[in-house]
Amino acid sequence: MNNFIFENATKVFFGKGCVKEYLACLTKCSKGTVMLAYGGGSIRKNGIYDEVMEILKGEGREVVEFSGIMPNPTYAKVLEGAKLARENNVGVILGVGGGSVMDCCKAVSIAARYEGDVWADFWARPGIFDFEPLPVGVIVTASGTGSECNGGAVITNEALKIKTGRDYPKCNPKFALLDPTYTYSVPQFQVVSGGFDTLSHMMEIYFSEPDEDNVSDDIAEALMKNVIRNLRAAIQNPQDYTARSNLMWDAVMAENRIIKLGKKTDFECHQMEHQLGAYMNCNHGAGLAVLHPVYYRHIYKDGLAKFKRFATQVWAVPTDGRTDEEIALAGIEALEDFILEIGLPVTLRDLGIDEAADLKAIADSCACVSGAYRVMTHEEILEIFKECY
Ligand code: NZQ
Ligand code: ZN
Repeated sequence: MNNFIFENATKVFFGKGCVKEYLACLTKCSKGTVMLAYGGGSIRKNGIYDEVMEILKGEGREVVEFSGIMPNPTYAKVLEGAKLARENNVGVILGVGGGSVMDCCKAVSIAARYEGDVWADFWARPGIFDFEPLPVGVIVTASGTGSECNGGAVITNEALKIKTGRDYPKCNPKFALLDPTYTYSVPQFQVVSGGFDTLSHMMEIYFSEPDEDNVSDDIAEALMKNVIRNLRAAIQNPQDYTARSNLMWDAVMAENRIIKLGKKTDFECHQMEHQLGAYMNCNHGAGLAVLHPVYYRHIYKDGLAKFKRFATQVWAVPTDGRTDEEIALAGIEALEDFILEIGLPVTLRDLGIDEAADLKAIADSCACVSGAYRVMTHEEILEIFKECY
């Protein structure tokens, strides 16, 4: 195992009714106005907004609303939130939503307390904290990213056409309320997109060195099987509480840093998807679904033993009479079959990327990460995009 430091400061409250039970006492720990941050309005339709407002008002809290946080939150939206927070003496940000809302809140928490150029100093390069960001608490309404238990915030700078993330432990939410019933109303496409995002986080960590016996890889296999099984169950019955609970906790387990410990981690597919998002504003999990099988067919020979292990341990691919390469490829095929089974796209065309898209410019804008089994070149990323088309 590689050396590591482990820290995770988020306090998690999990289960049916947790918002009613704990939100009031959690917001009591903060002073000033509560900034209630949310997305395009799903929480107003499914009753979560009323439930949260009733609790905050019951505590006599001043509330300022920061709404309209879009999927793939933009830097402009972050600056809007920071201005609102400054003007209203905000003491705590309460994000109610999925990854986009949570990420935007974390970025606002920095921008509200920083005088300089936030993009240049915290996203373009790793930031230096000589101040405390505004505290953030979250109520998760759509699971998948795991943003609720890390300091990660992925933001799109529309002017620069860059979508990028940083993970700052100081931005870990102070508390995260996870009620699986809150995810019942998520549209099925978003459920599978979120579930695949979780699975991809596990794969991006699993397919990296070291490959010696290590606890992260063993946990990752169990988690991947859990996501696959429970995603199928949630599709069958959207109100399956057990399935929703598992998916919600899987998302946290993938991204609370635990399975990353001692591993290099890959995340090249995330780099590619983020830039597709920067240029084409596509859905994160769906974009990952298109890219993964094609990317893995490019690199499997560089990590053959691990791809064989993935095939047998996660997909129960039979080994009889097959070469290692055939087994590895059968595992990737099983992954692709699963993507089709759950209704996610497997081509960029199906993802909504039109023919006029400048795939070369997008490929050239992608970062080539060092943790993968093989470091990509921009030429090979373009090949992957073309194969995905
Ligand atoms: O905006 P509203 O109206 O709330 O609708 C949202 C949105 O349209 C809807 N939704 C959420 N909860 C709902 C619901 N609809 C009905 N009922 C509910 N209970 O779901 C849609 C998508 O939401 P979004 O937050 O965009 O999805 P997701 O959670 O997949 O987040 C994606 C963002 O997170 C970033 C992605 O790049 C993307 O920008 N990521 C963040 C990470 C992190 N911080 O650790 C890691 C990930 O790899 C990822 O990059
Ligand atoms: Zn992701």
